[in-house]
Amino acid sequence: MTQAILLVGGQGTRLRPLTISTPKPMLPVAGFPCTEHQIARAREAGIDRIVLGTSYRAEVFEDYFSTRDLGVEIVYAVETEPLGTGGAIRNAAQYLTCDPDEPVVIFNGDVLTGLDIDGLVSKWRTAHADVALYLTRVADPRAFGLVPTDSDGQVIAFTEKPTTPEEIVTDQINAGCYVFRRSVIDRIPAGRVVSVERETFPELLDTNANVIGVVDDGYWLDLGNPLAFAQGSRDLVRGLAPTPLLSGRTGEAVIDSSAQVDPSASIIGGSYIGANVVIGAHAVIDGSIVYDGARLESHSHVSDSIIGVNAFVGSGCVITQAVIAEDVHLGSRNEILAGVRIFPNAQIADSTIRFSSDR
Ligand code: GDD
Ligand code: MG
Repeated sequence: MTQAILLVGGQGTRLRPLTISTPKPMLPVAGFPCTEHQIARAREAGIDRIVLGTSYRAEVFEDYFSTRDLGVEIVYAVETEPLGTGGAIRNAAQYLTCDPDEPVVIFNGDVLTGLDIDGLVSKWRTAHADVALYLTRVADPRAFGLVPTDSDGQVIAFTEKPTTPEEIVTDQINAGCYVFRRSVIDRIPAGRVVSVERETFPELLDTNANVIGVVDDGYWLDLGNPLAFAQGSRDLVRGLAPTPLLSGRTGEAVIDSSAQVDPSASIIGGSYIGANVVIGAHAVIDGSIVYDGARLESHSHVSDSIIGVNAFVGSGCVITQAVIAEDVHLGSRNEILAGVRIFPNAQIADSTIRFSSDR
């Protein structure tokens, strides 16, 4: 059996306002926190003990997971001050019980993947590697860690968030999952902020450690912004992103059994409808997340968007690629278009936001 560390202490600033009350990894995608999908996939790969490295709103994780049995042992390593990704890994390692030569799988808490976790561990083992990095290819790598490899798969460099065009030497990026030899983690300095990307990886390469990159072109999505978040949810609902938590339930929509959906409404495009949601006549919900307790009146049209907990959306509203946070009251016939985020508790009167004048 293998042990793992899940890094979930980041602030999730780019997902505000959704992350004001909930840490990003705990925001439900397709009805379950991203962390829960990851734990379920890790368990499927034979991982039996997971240390959650928490910091921002640490209590939310423990409150949630202490009431559920996911079939793995979950331990919490709480940082009173965030220690950065490397510091968090070092801090979490005190709760591992494996031997120095055994593999430890480390996951970033904000990516959805189809990675063959067990396959990555096998490649680490076969290569007698110190570290194996899961890599994927993206069109624009600037927001990620760049990881060029040689023809044998050895990592040549690690450049976190390249800033100059000369630094962009590959389309391979760090996809947010690593296998470390446990003794390598124990060499990360303790008790201070360390970035695994900016400090640990470059240092390992400078000292000729055996670091391999494993490119996997399967499903990968960084839940970096609200639109990606809605996409992740619809990919899970449609079964494009694998998760054991929805087995047998994937399709055009997943609707909580306590939701009241008018028979004339259409819920399509991988939408997720949460508990106690009410959806009125002729509403169309396409590729969106509607969180628990929200109410959408008749003829509202919501696509590729997120509707927060207990939000109210009046009749005839059009919401496209936008975020309506929790407890917002949106009066009838408003148009909320691409990129708009309405913060919690906002009250918007009928017919006050218009994109065009023809309605
Ligand atoms: N416990 C703890 N403490 N966790 C942290 C801390 C911390 O101080 N800082 C960040 N994390 C967690 C975040 O919650 C997230 O799950 C993970 O570590 C990565 O941090 P992000 O802040 O999300 O980094 P990023 O998205 O800018 O970049 C990272 O992910 C990319 C792939 O999505 C890097 O690892 C890149 O190299 C990578 O390409
Ligand atoms: Mg991230």
